[in-house]
Amino acid sequence: WPASLAALVIGYLFGSIPFGIILTRLAGGPDLRSIGSGNIGATNVLRTGNKKLAALTLLGDMLKGTAAVLVGGWLVGGREAALVAGLGAFLGHVFPVWLKFKGGKGVATYLGVLIALKFSIAIVFAALWLSIAYLSRYSSLSALVASLLTPLLLWFWPGLYQSALLMGVLTVILWITHRENILRLLRGREGKIGQKG
Ligand code: G3P
Repeated sequence: WPASLAALVIGYLFGSIPFGIILTRLAGGPDLRSIGSGNIGATNVLRTGNKKLAALTLLGDMLKGTAAVLVGGWLVGGREAALVAGLGAFLGHVFPVWLKFKGGKGVATYLGVLIALKFSIAIVFAALWLSIAYLSRYSSLSALVASLLTPLLLWFWPGLYQSALLMGVLTVILWITHRENILRLLRGREGKIGQKG
């Protein structure tokens, strides 16, 4: 298990880089935690009105998940290490030590990990997210639905049951990080994409 622990730590270090906070601060913007939903992710960066910065946040938070799986698997060696590094990256984003363990909701990092595990299913996730977002204008709803289907698709893909289990665990955590969004959606009070708050 020392190898797994090393993979977990490598993944965590990648995942804990809060791109939203860093980029908005560099651009002279507000502290994300004091605007909109208070979240540190791309959806909330968009509420500052800066689309380019939101896109960069999405890219950074996503690619750190992809990098964690690839680097963790390569440094420690093996498929299992890659999966554990993916778990570490997701936990790093949601519970970053640098932000007193109060991080993001994990959607971009979830997609980044998925890109490294099974690219074609990552495309399905992105397509689902985009379609639901186009129809509903709710970022959270799009992520909640797309993340429900992802572990199922992986499960039925031959040889990917371990990835299915990992993404299943990440889906459970993602639903927990979205608990306030779920309540707002149910009450019809969720903010729409790009709507300033
Ligand atoms: O990526 C997180 C998204 O699903 C919800 O973000 O800022 O609306 O809580 P937010």
